[in-house]
Amino acid sequence: MIEMRDLSKSYIERNGEERRVFEGLSFSPEKGERSIAITGRSGAGKTTLLRIIAGLDVQYGGEYWLDGGLQEKSLRAMAKVRRERIGVVPQDGMLLGDRSAIENVKIAVPPKCDKVVVATACLERVGLHGREKASARKLSGGEAQRVAIARAMAKKPKLLLADEPTASLDERTERDILGLFDTLIGEGALVIVATHNEAVASWCDSRYRIEERRLVRV
Ligand SMILES: Nc1ncnc2c1ncn2[C@@H]1O[C@H](COP(=O)(O)OP(=O)(O)OP(=O)(O)O)[C@@H](O)[C@H]1O
Ligand SMILES: [Mg+2]
Repeated sequence: MIEMRDLSKSYIERNGEERRVFEGLSFSPEKGERSIAITGRSGAGKTTLLRIIAGLDVQYGGEYWLDGGLQEKSLRAMAKVRRERIGVVPQDGMLLGDRSAIENVKIAVPPKCDKVVVATACLERVGLHGREKASARKLSGGEAQRVAIARAMAKKPKLLLADEPTASLDERTERDILGLFDTLIGEGALVIVATHNEAVASWCDSRYRIEERRLVRV
């Protein structure tokens, strides 16, 4: 479903220096890998890799294949791919602060579905029943993270990308969230999680680690 070939990525820092994050990275999980943990020390490039897969960053070298198609290095083209197929749970939640929890989820509900019904059901699944009207800005870190997960689930994505999705959650909520990911996998999704959390990594079918600008299976 997903394949990266000879991926390279560098950032130009403020002082004009180039910081190379990936060089000759390849990634081609097999069909049986339905949940994948991406690990690596802080600053190794986990968020960068997920952002490229999500189509939020198109400034890279190499090829990105999704469902057999070579992906365009265009933010516009990738926005369409993301809207239709990819659920993203960013490291910081990235909610619209001036909107309520339910409005943040409604945004992701596919056309032709009842937005209120689907968004309410997704919030209930992440344990936020009764918090629909709460302003996103006033949610706790863990609540905001769960709204972000509900938003990603609302579109029934074929690919779910979650960046440290359980970082602000207690163990029980963490287990509940992994249960939700299992449901999505049961519906045919591939789940890729960047994580430092041992419990989350061992829950995954396979584990990769970013090392020396490449991705190695561990
Ligand atoms: N917009 C940017 N401009 C310049 N450098 C960046 C930018 N974003 C990330 N970097 C650098 O790229 C490297 C990889 O960052 P990234 O956020 O992908 O790491 P990470 O593995 O997700 O780390 P963490 O575990 O702390 O979340 C870091 O050295 C970071 O400083
Ligand atoms: Mg990160």
